[in-house]
Amino acid sequence: MPAILSPIRTKEDVLFEDSLRPRTFDEFVGQDKVKSNLRVFIQAAKKRDEHLDHVLLYGPPGLGKTSLAYLIAKEMGVGIKPTAGPVIERTGDLSAILTNMQTKEALFIDEIHRLQPSVEEILYSAMEDFSLDIVIGQGPGARSHKLKIRKFTLIGATTRAGRITAPLRGRFGIIHRLDYYRDEDLRKVIQRSAKILKVKVDDAGAGEIALRSRGTPRVANRLLRRVRDYVDVKGDGVITAREAERALDMMEVDRLGLDDVDRKILSTIVENFGGGPVGIGTIAAAIDEEKDTIESIYEPFLMRIGFLDRTIRGRVVTPKAYAHLGYEYREPGSRGRTAPPPGQRKLFKD
Ligand SMILES: Nc1ncnc2c1ncn2[C@@H]1O[C@H](COP(=O)(O)OP(=O)(O)OP(=O)(O)O)[C@@H](O)[C@H]1O
Ligand SMILES: [Mg+2]
Repeated sequence: MPAILSPIRTKEDVLFEDSLRPRTFDEFVGQDKVKSNLRVFIQAAKKRDEHLDHVLLYGPPGLGKTSLAYLIAKEMGVGIKPTAGPVIERTGDLSAILTNMQTKEALFIDEIHRLQPSVEEILYSAMEDFSLDIVIGQGPGARSHKLKIRKFTLIGATTRAGRITAPLRGRFGIIHRLDYYRDEDLRKVIQRSAKILKVKVDDAGAGEIALRSRGTPRVANRLLRRVRDYVDVKGDGVITAREAERALDMMEVDRLGLDDVDRKILSTIVENFGGGPVGIGTIAAAIDEEKDTIESIYEPFLMRIGFLDRTIRGRVVTPKAYAHLGYEYREPGSRGRTAPPPGQRKLFKD
């Protein structure tokens, strides 16, 4: 069974996710401040009959950046061309896209922090004065020519805001960070998805799933799907708190929403590296996970719940995490290995 947080998505996962995407701004749950800000900018642009200023959306995976990008275009009443940083290999690819943009249309670049530097440079003048610098001819006779393009809106999304260069960042007029969702918002996400999936879930059942969704709508939807399978087979088709709890325990998603990879990261630091500090590369090698996956998916949440600290010398596991996993606390950097907790504290009911 693939881990709940796995960045690898099958075709079926993608279809599932698309089917649950909010179709209107009102259906987009939570993030009220971001939404109301965007609404104002969109209304203003429409009133002036102009393109919307460029938008940068950043924040951890699964919080709704892609969904919001599509909603922005929809609300503007314009088309959207989706692409992604790693997909645009040559400057010519981007120039071709840009010269084909219609007035006010949106260009969505996902993972914008992964653009090649030479490709990124094309964006600077395109974003700023809607022009491209085209070089005609070769050698000493080559001439640079400014080519005008239509006024479009760039919507960039990234999980790694720190990797966006200053010149690129500076060219976005609207920058929003999506934050983890509150439990009550996740409950709404779950109830909405349940309706679409035609499953019955009571309030307490939705609450139990929300609690373990680590503040992330994508996780909430994935857990709901698994719990649905569980009640289809073992229950009477209605998701109650009890059913949700059983199903999630079975999947080893604990009461804080940690899965086996989260626990492996923490227990490896505790048992093999004296609780830290230890470099992210070392942790990645020790548990055989991609460094980038740990940094973008697991670590932000572990830091948010106060289980992991980032210091200049590396990652450190906090006393709170020791307690959750059932270890006796030792000062970071204590010598020697820490034994696994005696009779691992019960994270799951039988
Ligand atoms: N505010 C929301 N209301 C309802 N559903 C949401 C909301 N945000 C996200 N979702 C659901 O969560 C899933 C993931 O959202 P989305 O793909 O937009 O996240 P993302 O931030 O683009 O993630 P990534 O960084 O991995 O690209 C979607 O299927 C969508 O249905
Ligand atoms: Mg996305």
